[in-house]
Amino acid sequence: MASFVTGLESALDGTRLPHDRLQTVHEGRPLWVRYDLDAIRAAVAPADVARRAPTLWRYAELLPVEDVAAAPTLGETTTPLLPCPRLGEQLGLARLWIKDESRLPTGSFKARGLVMAVARARELGARRLAIPTAGNAGGALAAYAARAGLEAWVLMPADTPVVNRVEAAALGARVFLVDGLISDCGRLVREGAGAMGWFDVSTLKEPYRIEGKKTMGLELAEQLGWELPDVILYPTGGGTGLIGMWKAFAELRELGWLRGEGLPRMVACQSEGCAPVVDAFEAGARFSEPPADPHTVASGLRVPTPLGDFMILDAVRASGGRACAAREDRLTAWTRRACAAEGISVCPETAACLDVLERLVEEGAVGRDERVVVFNTGAMQKYVEAVDVELPRLPRAGAVDWEALRAAYGAP
Ligand SMILES: Cc1ncc(COP(=O)(O)O)c(C=O)c1O
Repeated sequence: MASFVTGLESALDGTRLPHDRLQTVHEGRPLWVRYDLDAIRAAVAPADVARRAPTLWRYAELLPVEDVAAAPTLGETTTPLLPCPRLGEQLGLARLWIKDESRLPTGSFKARGLVMAVARARELGARRLAIPTAGNAGGALAAYAARAGLEAWVLMPADTPVVNRVEAAALGARVFLVDGLISDCGRLVREGAGAMGWFDVSTLKEPYRIEGKKTMGLELAEQLGWELPDVILYPTGGGTGLIGMWKAFAELRELGWLRGEGLPRMVACQSEGCAPVVDAFEAGARFSEPPADPHTVASGLRVPTPLGDFMILDAVRASGGRACAAREDRLTAWTRRACAAEGISVCPETAACLDVLERLVEEGAVGRDERVVVFNTGAMQKYVEAVDVELPRLPRAGAVDWEALRAAYGAP
């Protein structure tokens, strides 16, 4: 069994590297996975894909795993693309969809990247994997390492949401809390590699998480009949998903699978509490600077030093899109508002996209009739601290004043 991968390529200077061994970064920066797209075009067509099971493995030829049948799968279902008429109306949009990634194993899109990284790491002989995480990636690594029979070591900031901490530990990882940010966790993983003998599966430090995240773009295109929307809003921390989707669109274009000419405008959404990519975008820079005091309830967006900053910014600029910061004090309200409007379990990271979208519509940067897709990257249930709700109490049956209650809440 073999993949269609031809090799790895430095995203910074194009240096080629072999893919038959574990690889990390080149000159400190990420690697692209390159495929023989001519051979893929000859081997498979959209009609073949359409007959396959609804999981991310339906795009096997565009994935780096050599033996797909042996991959440590937990059932990486294709995620629904849900029309959101009520939320759309609130935002002044006629055609708004949420692509709901909360359905994936461990409740976030991190499953896509980590199933691919773990599958490849095992194929290439790694036994012990380590990850610095803002939360969700740690849970996903724990799950896939358990499934693959590998060790997972997870380092997370001490103030990571409690569900993320419990999840990674319950799924069998060795979990450590670190007094610091995800960048401090990353430094520890790097520092400990020699002594601990682990393989570092940090965002963009190995090449295969991008390939997993790429399937968000492949799926989206297929769900829209191999057309793409006008605008995509994506909550950007390390940026793997945005980078992966943009790569997916380029590969689909080269394969000749896409209908229509245009590519979507990619909007990288952050929170003003931690917005290095937005700052770099506004400054016209290709590389970002870490913010002084990074903080946000959208814990997945608290990434002060994204390794692939230039890849995010290149994609955003090439697409004619933008990088925008949401107002931190609106994130909790937007989380609740979106959940209640559509019944979708929307995470605070996605709330950042909604706050940005509201502003872009008001400014006329997104038109009322444009086709807009927002990625819901995780389940709201994982953020119990941020979404904290206070619930009124009722006395026992027989003691409720129903008339007063009806007066307070009104008729249906
Ligand atoms: C729910 C959620 N959304 C978005 C992000 C940011 O993801 P990316 O690294 O692909 O930008 C994260 C990362 O931790 C996350 O957990």
